[in-house]
Amino acid sequence: MDLIRWTLVFIGHLGFWCSVFNLIHSTSLPRSFRKRTEKAIILAVAAPIVFILATMILRSTWSFDVVASNPFSRMFLYAMLGLGCMFFAIWLFGKLSSRRPSAVVKRKTHWLDLEQEIDGDLFGTPASRAIGQLPFNECLKLTLEQMTLELDVPRELDGLKICQLSDLHYTGQINVEFFQRIVKEANKFKPDLIFITGDLVDEAKCLPWLEPTLGKLEAKHGVFYVLGNHDLRIKDETAFRNQLASIGLIQASGKWHDIEFNGTTIRLTGNELPWYADVEKLGSESGAQPELKILLSHSPDQLDWAKPMGFDLMFAGHTHGGQIVFPIIGPIVAPSKYGVRYAAGTFDIGGMIMHVSRGISGDEPIRLCCPPEVGLFTIRSSRVDEANAVEEQSRQSSSKSSNLQTQNT
Ligand SMILES: [Fe+2]
Repeated sequence: MDLIRWTLVFIGHLGFWCSVFNLIHSTSLPRSFRKRTEKAIILAVAAPIVFILATMILRSTWSFDVVASNPFSRMFLYAMLGLGCMFFAIWLFGKLSSRRPSAVVKRKTHWLDLEQEIDGDLFGTPASRAIGQLPFNECLKLTLEQMTLELDVPRELDGLKICQLSDLHYTGQINVEFFQRIVKEANKFKPDLIFITGDLVDEAKCLPWLEPTLGKLEAKHGVFYVLGNHDLRIKDETAFRNQLASIGLIQASGKWHDIEFNGTTIRLTGNELPWYADVEKLGSESGAQPELKILLSHSPDQLDWAKPMGFDLMFAGHTHGGQIVFPIIGPIVAPSKYGVRYAAGTFDIGGMIMHVSRGISGDEPIRLCCPPEVGLFTIRSSRVDEANAVEEQSRQSSSKSSNLQTQNT
């Protein structure tokens, strides 16, 4: 009984402070403030644990009732016990109710160990090399996530290929050769569109990497991007966006882009809130309704904005899959107001399909059981099957009637 109560107290205590961390990191609060709160959270997590352990040692018991004998401890422990029950119930409900959206009709993951495949040291600093060699760190193991999405769109959109890259985080901790290989893998898909969903460059010293990496991306109908919170570290936003434009990248935010594809219109835009406010410049849509409407957003939290706007697809990043994924439990931190609910994966948000990428890298090269991801999404029109079924039906009925005529004659 004591073991269950202590476990629930631990879940409640850790869950509460993880929720505070996730919420603070989903906002546009200044980085210095967020860094200070991180230290305060570590202290807030550690202090009660040290107090409880000290009480256990002094009283030579781990009995829950003995440790909870003074009013302050009792209040704290029962509050955490209640929170623990709540977090456990939420986690269990999430596990039991999670299922792949019916729109995802096919999924295939291909792994590449880039540390083995690329000659030379991929780590840029001794510290990143040490972190990179931690057990279960998959920061250099690339996954190519290929999925087929069946949507109710015209037959002309059948076969449309979209590639997503997210959260590249050029910090210098992982060398440029790693990102060049990522670009090579993305180009191998021969996509029609490429989307980059934010956090491109953390350190200004890495700006020259843009041309030999993202500048080499090839997509028939364009490479579109949104910026993320880490891009704020590049102080001159105008010069940064001009540099991105000079290498062929198209800013998705601030306007509606109409792309003609096989005689149909794909309309897309970007949302960089809460860090950049270009979405506020977005006017109302003009022209006929598009056949497919897509949003690029750095944060999945913008789904609240996207849903009433009638998007069919939303591509996001920012959460990095949680970066540390525990067996069975999953990730526990993700910078989202929804916590780890949308840390990574594909979700059906009332008919809008949202894919949240695990991204490519991070502030630090820590990715325990959470490999980098390049996504390829092939659109399949559900109307192709319907049209084929109608054709088949009419073929069968015409064959029946010709048989009938033959019998009559
Ligand atoms: Fe990021």
